[in-house]
Amino acid sequence: SASSHVNHEEFLPCLLHHSPDSKSITKLVYTPINTSYSPVLNFSIRNLRFSTPNTPKPLLIITPSNISHVQAAVICSKSHGIQIRIRSGGHDFEGLSYVAYHPFVVVDLINLSSVTIEVEQSTAWVQSGATLGELYYRIAEKSRTLAFPAGNCPTVGVGGHFSGGGFGTLLRKYGLAADNVIDAYIVDANGEFHDRKSMGEDLFWAIRGGGGGSFGIVVAWKVKLVPVPATVTICTISRTLEEEAIKLIDQWQYVANKLDEDLFLGINLLGGKIVAQGDKINPIALFFSLFLGKADELMAILNKTFPQLGLTKEECKETSWIESVVYTGNGLQIEDQPLEVLLNRTPLANGNIKMKSDYVKEPISKATIKEVWQRLKSQDIEGANLVFIPYGGRMSQISESEIPFSHRAGNLYKIGYLTGWFEPGLNAEKTHLNWIRDIYSYMTPFVTKSPRAAYVNYRDLDIGSNSKYGKTSYKRAHVWGSKYFGSNFDRLVYVKNEVDPYNFFRHEQSIPVLLKRR
Ligand code: FDA
Repeated sequence: SASSHVNHEEFLPCLLHHSPDSKSITKLVYTPINTSYSPVLNFSIRNLRFSTPNTPKPLLIITPSNISHVQAAVICSKSHGIQIRIRSGGHDFEGLSYVAYHPFVVVDLINLSSVTIEVEQSTAWVQSGATLGELYYRIAEKSRTLAFPAGNCPTVGVGGHFSGGGFGTLLRKYGLAADNVIDAYIVDANGEFHDRKSMGEDLFWAIRGGGGGSFGIVVAWKVKLVPVPATVTICTISRTLEEEAIKLIDQWQYVANKLDEDLFLGINLLGGKIVAQGDKINPIALFFSLFLGKADELMAILNKTFPQLGLTKEECKETSWIESVVYTGNGLQIEDQPLEVLLNRTPLANGNIKMKSDYVKEPISKATIKEVWQRLKSQDIEGANLVFIPYGGRMSQISESEIPFSHRAGNLYKIGYLTGWFEPGLNAEKTHLNWIRDIYSYMTPFVTKSPRAAYVNYRDLDIGSNSKYGKTSYKRAHVWGSKYFGSNFDRLVYVKNEVDPYNFFRHEQSIPVLLKRR
C-alpha cells in the first residue's frame, strides 16, 4: 500500500542513521523487492497456515548481527509507528513472530546465534537466535556429562522457548529451561540495552516464562548447565491393543508423577491417518522414557513401581545424553546419525499445525481415556496426537511465583493436543481445527478449571486474544493471561506498565498495559 511504501522509504535511512556500522546493516535488511526477501522470511516459518498469499507480510526483515542493530530497529520502528515482530526459531504455533495486522517489520535474530560454554562454571551464554540443537551440540563438544533441560525438538529457537518456559525430558529432574536462566541481555522499548543488574529483578522475572514479545528483545541468555551421567537409558514402548493401552494409560496417571526424578516416562498417543494399516486406522500408545542411569537400574525401578507396563530391555537403549537427544530429536528414532544433525535448522517436515494444552490434577477415568482413543481413530485427520507429560519431581518443588510459569505442585501431568496436516486449503484446515477443538471441548470436565490452565509456549489464540490491531485491555487479557500464568498475570501486567507503558511490544497475546485514569 502507499502508506507502507512511505514508511519503508523513511525507515531505511533511520536504520542507517542509528547504526554505528551503517555499511553492514544495509546487507542485513531485506525489502520485498529484494530477491532474498521471501527465502529469508520463509526459512524460519514453522507453521504453513501462516504462510499463504493472504498472510500479511512484513515491510522489511532485519537480521541484526550485533546489538546496536537491534537497538536501531527498536528506535526506528517506534519513531515510525511500525510494529515489530521478534523472531528467533519461528516455532510460534500461531505465527506471532512473523505475522501482524498492522504495518510491521520482522527482527529475525538468526545471525545472533553464538553459544559460549564455560565447563568450569557449568554455565553458558546463548544468543537468542541459536536453536536448542545448536546449544546441545556446543555443550557436547565440551562435555558429555553436562546438559541443559529444554525441549526435545532441535530446531526450536532459544529466544521464544526460554521466554515461555521450555520443557523437555529433564523437567522432572531440573525443571524448565527458564528455571535455569541466571542472566540475560535485553533491548527494551526505548532501545536501551540491559543485563540482569540494570534491568532489575522485576523485568528479569517477567522474561523467564512470561511469554515472548511483550517486554523487549532478549538478545542472549546466561544459563546454568546441569549434570547428567555418562550413560542414560531411553526406551520407547509401543502398545497398540486398545484394551491394554487404556489400562496402562489409566495406571500411568497414578505412577508417572511420583517416580524417581531421574526417570521421565511420558506417553504419546498417535492417531489419524499416519498409522493407517490398510483402511483400518489404529491409534498407538507410545510410552517414551529417559532415565538418568543404566538400563538394569531402570528395569529394577519399573518392575517395582509399574510392572504392568511389562517393559523389556529390548525396548531400551543405553547411550549418552547427547546421543539420546539426536536419536529422539525429530520424533522419529533414526539410528546412527551424526551429532551434526543437531545443527540443521530445517526440520524434516514442515506442515500446517494447531496445538492446544491442558493440565490434569485428578486422574481421568478409563471411560474418558477410551473416548479419547475413539477420537484418535478419526478417518479424516492426517496427524492427530496427544502427548502426556508427567510432572512431579523438581516441578513440584519450585514455587508457583518463582517465575511467571505457574503450573507446579498439584499437577499430575500436562496434555498437549496436536494436529498436523500437509493438505493445503481451507477445507483441510477446517477439518483439523474442528477435530482438535472438539476433543478439547470434550475434555473440559476432566482438566483444571477456573482458570483452565494452558502452556504459553503452546500458543493458542482460541483461548482469547488482544484485538488483532493492537489494542489491549486488562479484562480481555485476563481471560487467557490467568490460564497461562495463574495469579502471576497481575505481576506481569505490573512489569509491563513499568518497562513498556506505551505498549510498543505487542501482539495478539502480549501482556497488556493498564490505562491510567487521570
Ligand atoms: P518464535 O521465533 O516463533 O518466537 C515465539 C514467540 O516469542 C513470539 O511471540 C516471538 O515474537 C517471541 N520471541 C522470539 N524471540 C524472542 C526474543 N529473543 N525476545 C523476546 N521475544 C521473542 N515447547 C516446549 O516447551 N518443549 C518442546 O519440546 C517443544 N517442542 C516443539 C516442537 C515443535 C515442532 C514446535 C513447533 C514447537 C515446540 N515447542 C516446544 C513450543 C516452543 O517452545 C515455542 O513455540 C517457542 O516459543 C518457540 O520459540 P522460537 O524462538 O522457535 O519461536
